[in-house]
Amino acid sequence: MADGTTCQRQVRSGFEFAQAQVRALIERHPDYYPMYTVQGRWKHEGEKWTHWCDGFLPGMMWIFHAHTGDKYWLDNAIRYSTPLEPRQHDRAVHDLGFIFCSTYMRWLNAMDRQGSKTQERQHIEDVLIQAGTTMSLRFKEKGQYLRSFVADESLFVDIMMNVGIIFYEAQKQKERGNAKEAAELFRIADAHCRTSQRYLIRGDGSTAHEAIFDLNTGECLRQTTHQGFRGDSCWSRGLAWALYGFCTVYNCTHDTAYLETSEACARYYIAHTPEHGVPPWDYDAQPMESRQLEDSSAAAIAACGLYGLSLASASFEKRALYRQYFRRIMATLTTDKYLGREPGWEGILKHGVYHVHKKLGVDESVMWGEYFFVEALSKALEDIAP
Ligand code: GLY
Repeated sequence: MADGTTCQRQVRSGFEFAQAQVRALIERHPDYYPMYTVQGRWKHEGEKWTHWCDGFLPGMMWIFHAHTGDKYWLDNAIRYSTPLEPRQHDRAVHDLGFIFCSTYMRWLNAMDRQGSKTQERQHIEDVLIQAGTTMSLRFKEKGQYLRSFVADESLFVDIMMNVGIIFYEAQKQKERGNAKEAAELFRIADAHCRTSQRYLIRGDGSTAHEAIFDLNTGECLRQTTHQGFRGDSCWSRGLAWALYGFCTVYNCTHDTAYLETSEACARYYIAHTPEHGVPPWDYDAQPMESRQLEDSSAAAIAACGLYGLSLASASFEKRALYRQYFRRIMATLTTDKYLGREPGWEGILKHGVYHVHKKLGVDESVMWGEYFFVEALSKALEDIAP
């Protein structure tokens, strides 16, 4: 593993490289929102499966703007975020947290840093509130979960990264004096988290991708998967979504049961991932050789979650362990093996995986990998700063 000084250099240079790659993407394919590369190239006709990634490209621009103050990033962040606005009403996906927390929430934060009280600020907050309402409409009373995009009976672990937008709206409704709406939104979001905790997180801290419910009784029937190896395996990105998602909902609710769940996922991640910090796409994939296929995007997401735990955990020792493991992942992801520095590679982070079974984005750059890597780099820059 790199020593502290090398890692700092790698982080700074990785952040510069990320900006160069995003700038090149804007210039090469203006107003295009890619999802995964094919042989390192963003523009292709590959299938998308579901429409969940459009916030990640502008999300990176918001992060670059927050760190550099560069107007180029502000202008482009607004240019790429604004077209997403109609999706505040999108009921076809369970991903409104991904779409709006990466964009409108960061936009709002940028305005708040400037002390803006304009109508535009109000409008941005209203969009976030509507996105929270739209997400809440996915709630199934029988079963107590937010349904996934695939079917009424389906709960996905990924939704733990999106439920935060409902907690956000609950808080805003409370501040606006709408106590009844706030309580109802909180009930829905909290119930979803409890159900996910109960049926998607196993006793050893590993996770299932999906749970299927009986729509008549609300009973959970089985664990299954779309992107993992098998229903009873641990798909590493799902684990990372749970690790980071439960840490985020702990920050929204201060409910220590959610912190414990995030820490259980972190324990599993640390115990089962190779020393360099990047997991196989599925910890239980067979045959064993198929575990050679890594998912760098899972590592980037886990790094963000571990950084969160390094601030949130009640134990000094655990906070230090999480921070150390965060640094380990970042030291690995900022090496030439993972950065797309080779000529012709258009992504930032190589060796991500989208959907093995559908053969989409396998061992490629993936847009959420780019985004969470840039978010992790921005945390690493804070970590370095005196
Ligand atoms: N569908 C979300 C993911 O690929 O992780």
